Amino acid sequence: MAGRLAGKTAIVTGSSSGIGQSIAIRLASEGANIVVDYRNHPEGADATKQQIETVGAKAIVVHADVSKLADTQQLVDQAWQQFGGCDILVNNAGIERAADFWEVTEADYDAVLGINLKGAFFLTQAFVRRLRDAKRPGRIVNISSVHEDMAFPHFSTYCASKGAMRMLARNLAVELGPLGITVNNIAPGAIMTPINTSLLDDKPKLDALLKNIPLGRMGKPEEVAGLAAFLASDEAAYITGSTYVIDGGLMVNYHEQ
Ligand SMILES: NC(=O)c1ccc[n+]([C@@H]2O[C@H](COP(=O)([O-])OP(=O)(O)OC[C@H]3O[C@@H](n4cnc5c(N)ncnc54)[C@H](O)[C@@H]3O)[C@@H](O)[C@H]2O)c1
Repeated sequence: MAGRLAGKTAIVTGSSSGIGQSIAIRLASEGANIVVDYRNHPEGADATKQQIETVGAKAIVVHADVSKLADTQQLVDQAWQQFGGCDILVNNAGIERAADFWEVTEADYDAVLGINLKGAFFLTQAFVRRLRDAKRPGRIVNISSVHEDMAFPHFSTYCASKGAMRMLARNLAVELGPLGITVNNIAPGAIMTPINTSLLDDKPKLDALLKNIPLGRMGKPEEVAGLAAFLASDEAAYITGSTYVIDGGLMVNYHEQ
């Protein structure tokens, strides 16, 4: 298949829905083979695979809970066994749980940090070890959030996980640069996906949010996918250790009343 990512293989975590699904399909449309990862929704993962095949690329579906080390290893092993290698890792799987700080339980903490941070950390480790042994370059794209930087009251676990992902990318950019592996984050603002179902169903809350977005709308998963494809491609060969904000201007929109 022709395209910017022809001959490459990518793992996209949490690609049975939302941003991950769009990224998987976009990378495929640019020529990459895709490892579609899911935890709970095999039907979503199958839909992603079908759309990948429609654009003429190859996909395998792997059931892997990224918070489990054995599962993350399985994702990398499957990519190498089925496609002979793996060049691109997109750490997209993520969850959020709302709670006042003083109500956060150990279970909430473990769930959010276990998926958003520990999952990305150890999957990246498994991905890098294979590249290091094979002396191959690679691309890592993390889907973090504007909450790498911006406060989000009542979502302290989410913010802790995304803030840590910011520093992890900077640290790994330095450590992995000599191996030819780049690491960058995408920090989306408000994107129309299932994670925002309760927001989309709450019109007053949604209207208040839209007033804070200079472009006056939420983002589309496909728009995040376009940025991910760029960062995964050779065009981004000299970019590492950065976060790309995609938020319609939300983060810079402070103004005096
Ligand atoms: N939608 C937004 O406004 C927004 C904004 C900023 C950042 N993000 C981030 O984008 C990423 C994707 O979220 P989304 O908006 O597409 O929502 P989503 O709920 O559709 O996607 C999250 C995906 O992660 C998967 N997942 C959850 N736990 C998993 C696990 N243990 N193992 C494997 N997969 C798991 C889910 O099944 C789902 O497919 C998340 O990391 C989220 O924090 C989203």
